Amino acid sequence: MTEPLSHPARPDWTAVILAAGRGTRMHSTLPKALHPVAGVPMVRHVANAARGAGFGQIVVVVSPEGEPVAETAGDGAVAAIQTEPLGTGHAALAGASAVGDASTVVILNGDLPLLTAETLAAAAARHAEADATLTFVTAEVADPTGYGRVDRKVGRVHAIVEEADTDADTGAINEINVGLYLAEADWLRGALAALEPSAGGELYLTDIVTAAVAHGTVETYRLANLGEVQQVNDRVELARAEAVMRTRIRERLMRAGVTIADPASTYVDASVEVGADTTLLPGTHLLGATAVGANCELGPNAVLRDVTAGDRVRVGSSTLEGSTLAEDVEIGPYCHLRPGSVIERDVHLGNYVEVKESRIGAGTQIGHFSYVGDARVGQAVNIGAGTVTANYDGERKHRTEIGDGAFIGVDSMLVAPVNVGASARTAAGAVVIDDVPPGELAIGVPARNRPNEGGKPGRG
Ligand code: UD1
Ligand code: CA
Repeated sequence: MTEPLSHPARPDWTAVILAAGRGTRMHSTLPKALHPVAGVPMVRHVANAARGAGFGQIVVVVSPEGEPVAETAGDGAVAAIQTEPLGTGHAALAGASAVGDASTVVILNGDLPLLTAETLAAAAARHAEADATLTFVTAEVADPTGYGRVDRKVGRVHAIVEEADTDADTGAINEINVGLYLAEADWLRGALAALEPSAGGELYLTDIVTAAVAHGTVETYRLANLGEVQQVNDRVELARAEAVMRTRIRERLMRAGVTIADPASTYVDASVEVGADTTLLPGTHLLGATAVGANCELGPNAVLRDVTAGDRVRVGSSTLEGSTLAEDVEIGPYCHLRPGSVIERDVHLGNYVEVKESRIGAGTQIGHFSYVGDARVGQAVNIGAGTVTANYDGERKHRTEIGDGAFIGVDSMLVAPVNVGASARTAAGAVVIDDVPPGELAIGVPARNRPNEGGKPGRG
């Protein structure tokens, strides 16, 4: 989801997102910034917040293999390469060197997926008002473990003390450094270039606080909403961030008119849209690029991934992937729609129906256990229980076409490639290997065609 652009644009400000760290504590082959939170990679959440706050440019600092990380950040984000992961100060220098003639630089740790555009905009406003050399965001937390502590002397910021360097006094400070900094570009580049390595050999971005204290004023912006603070260093913190994000998404939807019967068992990715007066019943998962219309009822236990659905759609316990549903479609329970399925309006798919890469025309009914693959089914077709499109000959897939108004008898085997013409019928148990002309009846094993005189061909 892209944050709405509701803040004054700051076209000559650049956001620098630090995402070149090793992420050692994740124990993962996937770069930390690409780990999803509510289905959306962390770096994209951070970039969306920066875009929402109206910053003119986004630079993502990545490792030499990290090009996909910058691409994932989305629209217009440019990569700056940190050749070796020598610390956040080193990464920030790589970023600040790539910002061109930006006036102000906003540095963001790439592992803060919960930060909002509102917070970025408010911190930016504070920095501009205070005319500070450096502004950074802090929060007061119950357990400061793992964070840099904000060391103040008579109320004024003096330094940020990293966890590893704390003593009994500084370790007990519960005002922490969130990982968001704002500074004027020229001063920042100089301060970063002058950083000295820490005892562990890293360049700490946090050491610029000391330089800023010596140079001018340091301002802090205290984050009131602790729901934005969570960083992600390991999988435990990833799960915590995930829980906060999922709650936030559900509350946003509920406030916009979506009923969620059991929020705790309902999972909605950050990228999903749901229309008003839609009800999500327990166990429903809306994932990926899914957009659902208004007045729908989904679940219980419906899983929709990359699905577009119109208004008044009903889906019982079913799994739908990569498919498009028009309005007034009714699906399930126990259906499986596989990618490439297009279901037109007023279609009813009943129990145990599997559809793959097929178009099902408006008003068509497939009421009971059936497989429809690589097919084009016309409008107002009735497909009887147990019908199978035999689309695979062991080597290749073949297509089935069924015309408008056709009636497919129970247990029909449609051996593709095959066409069943408009208003044609197949008898119960027919094994259809030849095309059925419009209006004719196919009967037998294998089926032969004869004029369709109505009646009950299955018993004829
Ligand atoms: C950092 C801060 C700490 C703060 C915490 C909260 C420093 C020295 N410490 O600690 O004060 O409380 O964040 O969020 O900055 N990165 C690079 N290149 C590197 C190292 C890191 O790009 O060489 C990136 C990482 O990918 C990550 C971000 O910088 O997105 C922060 O690095 P991380 O290792 O998570 O810093 P913390 O130890 O959490
Ligand atoms: Ca971190």
